[in-house]
Amino acid sequence: MAYGFISSIFLWTTFSAVLLKAAQSQNLMTDNVSVVEGETAIISCRVKNNDDSVIQLLNPNRQTIYFRDMRPLKDARFQLVNFSENELRVALTNVSLSDEGRYVCQLYTDPPQEAYADVTVLVPPGNPIIEGQEKPVTEGNETEMTCTAASSKPAAKIRWLKGDQELPGTSQVEPTYDNMYTVSSRLRVTVTKEDDGVAVRCIVEHPAVKDFQAQRILEVEYKPEVKILVEYPRGLTREGENLELTCRTRGKPEPQKVNWIKVDDDVPSHAVITGSDLLIENLNKSYNGTYRCVAANSIGESYDDYILYVYDAPTTPPPPSTAPPTTITTTPLPDTTQGGRL
Ligand SMILES: *[C@@H]1O[C@H](CO)[C@@H](O)[C@H](O)[C@H]1NC(C)=O
Ligand SMILES: *[C@@H]1O[C@H](CO)[C@@H](O)[C@H](O)[C@H]1NC(C)=O
Ligand SMILES: *[C@@H]1O[C@H](CO)[C@@H](O)[C@H](O)[C@H]1NC(C)=O
Ligand SMILES: *[C@@H]1O[C@H](CO)[C@@H](O)[C@H](O)[C@H]1NC(C)=O
Ligand SMILES: *[C@@H]1O[C@H](CO)[C@@H](O)[C@H](O)[C@H]1NC(C)=O
Ligand SMILES: *[C@@H]1O[C@H](CO)[C@@H](O)[C@H](O)[C@H]1NC(C)=O
Repeated sequence: MAYGFISSIFLWTTFSAVLLKAAQSQNLMTDNVSVVEGETAIISCRVKNNDDSVIQLLNPNRQTIYFRDMRPLKDARFQLVNFSENELRVALTNVSLSDEGRYVCQLYTDPPQEAYADVTVLVPPGNPIIEGQEKPVTEGNETEMTCTAASSKPAAKIRWLKGDQELPGTSQVEPTYDNMYTVSSRLRVTVTKEDDGVAVRCIVEHPAVKDFQAQRILEVEYKPEVKILVEYPRGLTREGENLELTCRTRGKPEPQKVNWIKVDDDVPSHAVITGSDLLIENLNKSYNGTYRCVAANSIGESYDDYILYVYDAPTTPPPPSTAPPTTITTTPLPDTTQGGRL
């Protein structure tokens, strides 16, 4: 009993001493490998300071794939890429999920050394799909959409962008029967009229894909925006002059027609309304008041006001256009006015 204990300590000490010596003199190295399903994985076993020890590569079931440059395993998908004293490099083409696992690089030292290469197979998700309400949304209302990236390994990550703005979604990961993951993310957005025509993008992040996204253009209905523009005159609205106003509207759906009214009064009887234009000739102070352009669509009604304030006609009449052109050429401006009056 006591002898056995002592001897096992002795054995252990010897073993670890050998292992330590071997590890110092010969360095066996490999790397983990991530590979997309169907593509090629490269597994490399490297040795520093090799003293002619044999290198071999084992599969996760510890069957020998390569022993030096020989391949006992009958799987032609394994091909030698490089074999030298310091490296055994093997390519595995058309990788499938069943190839995943811990591969073993082994060096025939005493005791043998091992290094492990974990091969991870990535499966890209299917094209992202956005689902949600197809109809236009009314401004101020909430719309909801869901983006799905199906069957990937590992699970994909989904981000949302509205224009350039990142928005938070609610993600759900569901494992599928074949050990994949289907991820869906739900986005809720309260829309404004500025969102009309803006793209909402669902961006899928996964190590096996690049620039993977889907988009949906927001369609937002909003009540008209109305603005009155003065086409004429450029300056003061004086008695006897004409006034021309035009009414600009924008809405979704587009307002069918606009209405001109005068607040608390009637529009002058000779005013001419052509589409969105209002023309009042020969202004008179009695036309003073608030002129309103009203536009409506299925969402609502809006208006803009123009306050007319008719000024006196100019007190000094303009110089007669019949003045002889000869007097204008040489004499300064005040003299011309005087001459015109005379
Ligand atoms: C390889 O991956 C395993 C986990 O799968 C990890 O523990 C190990 O440190 C990795 N090796 C290297 C060299 O990155
Ligand atoms: C094989 O490996 C050796 C040593 O690392 C290197 O010099 C040589 O270029 C490699 N050959 C190929 C085909 O990669
Ligand atoms: C790749 O492997 C799959 C099975 O995993 C097989 O159906 C397919 O034909 C292989 N493709 C090539 C090019 O060998
Ligand atoms: C949109 O919002 C309006 C009020 O802002 C409401 O009456 C209507 O029911 C909402 N429509 C939907 C589809 O939510
Ligand atoms: C303005 O209208 C009033 C009646 O509404 C009329 O008596 C007056 O002559 C008009 N003035 C001008 C400059 O046309
Ligand atoms: C219209 O405005 C003018 C100011 O230019 C004022 O003198 C006049 O009394 C106003 N007329 C009416 C009917 O409000």
